[in-house]
Amino acid sequence: MNFDLTEDHRLIQQTARDFATKEIEPKAAELDRTARWPTEIVARMAELGFMGLAIPTEYGGAGLDTVSYVLVMEEVSRACASSGVIMSVNNSLFCDPLYKFGTDFQKTEILTPTASGQKLGAFCLTEPASGSDARTMKTVCEKQGDGSWILNGSKNFITVGPEAEHLIVFAVSTPHPEKPKHTALLVRRDWPGYQVAPHDEKMGIRAAHSSTIFFENVRVPKEYVLGEEGLGFKVAMATLDGGRIGIAAQALGIARAAYEKAVAYSKERKAFGGTISGLQAIQFMIADMAVELDAARLLTLRAAYMKDKGVRHTAESAMAKLFASEMCTRVTHKALQVHGGYGYTTEYGIERHYRDARITEIYEGTSEIQRVVIAGNVLKG
Ligand code: CAA
Repeated sequence: MNFDLTEDHRLIQQTARDFATKEIEPKAAELDRTARWPTEIVARMAELGFMGLAIPTEYGGAGLDTVSYVLVMEEVSRACASSGVIMSVNNSLFCDPLYKFGTDFQKTEILTPTASGQKLGAFCLTEPASGSDARTMKTVCEKQGDGSWILNGSKNFITVGPEAEHLIVFAVSTPHPEKPKHTALLVRRDWPGYQVAPHDEKMGIRAAHSSTIFFENVRVPKEYVLGEEGLGFKVAMATLDGGRIGIAAQALGIARAAYEKAVAYSKERKAFGGTISGLQAIQFMIADMAVELDAARLLTLRAAYMKDKGVRHTAESAMAKLFASEMCTRVTHKALQVHGGYGYTTEYGIERHYRDARITEIYEGTSEIQRVVIAGNVLKG
């Protein structure tokens, strides 16, 4: 067993660290305060190849792997969790399924400009009345005589939705009370009947815009079906196996930001005749944070390694996402506690990490859904 990163992995990690520290971190508080979409950061991430890291270069990607993606996600999210999730949606929820399930036409026309970051993509599974129970979605698509589809319904909380050129939309194609069938469709924002609501006002990741998107009799040509007709739910689930690795890495980055600030602050702040880093109460919190971060990183890298090897990693991705996201909540909570009253103000930025942490336990499957997936895998057979 080898725990060392390769030379290439260290190089991309350092590139991401330098970029995130110099170009993202100084803007993160302002992006959070104003909920401004980070146009210039997205453009720079595109230049650096971060918008399609594991997609081959022939399709506009950087030609790297999932381990590289995790390393970059941690650095970008450490600086700004909003920039992290924008990168994650494009890589994991859009480019990855397009590469895996897309036709030559879809790869050339849609994947290539998206993996290079010239355009953005988003993933539409959640609906106002179906989040965790995704199979009960109400959005429908009806096949026409010429093979095209008419799409009707709405999707909500669509991260990157307001800025995306293309969406992957999951819809019921064969209604059935217990076993409906679903089809995944690629939808372009300028098609008639497509409407985007104003973006959501959120507690955290405020610069990563999300919104509700409505589809009213949107005609989708037959070339825009992603994967096999009727197998859309499997496309969604397989995509989330990869997406959950990205969110685990985002949680790692947020937690590391808070942890590093807590360590630095503990060495400066004086109380009871010395710095608070000399107090066992603070040392125990720092020790717990260090252990939890390491454990989450190992789980996340293992899931990424398995994905790169082409091994089924459904349970391992769910484990990484579950542990990393709950760890992130615990670590940001402790880091704020180390800062005392100053942590509760915006001065040190800890309260931003505390707010950003919370979404990682919710999107791409709540902690409860990760436990359902893990238990299902443990108990099957
Ligand atoms: N890969 C391939 N196929 C899979 C799969 C996987 N990982 N997981 C399940 N499937 C298949 C099953 O084998 C099954 O196939 P058959 O019908 O042929 O048997 C089919 O998919 C249905 O699976 P289940 O019976 O397990 O489905 P279910 O209805 O019981 O639901 C669930 C399972 C795990 C609860 C699922 O609904 C789920 O993951 N819910 C959470 C949804 C979610 O994560 N949403 C996130 C939205 S995206 C987002 O958040 C983005 C963002 O903002 C950044």
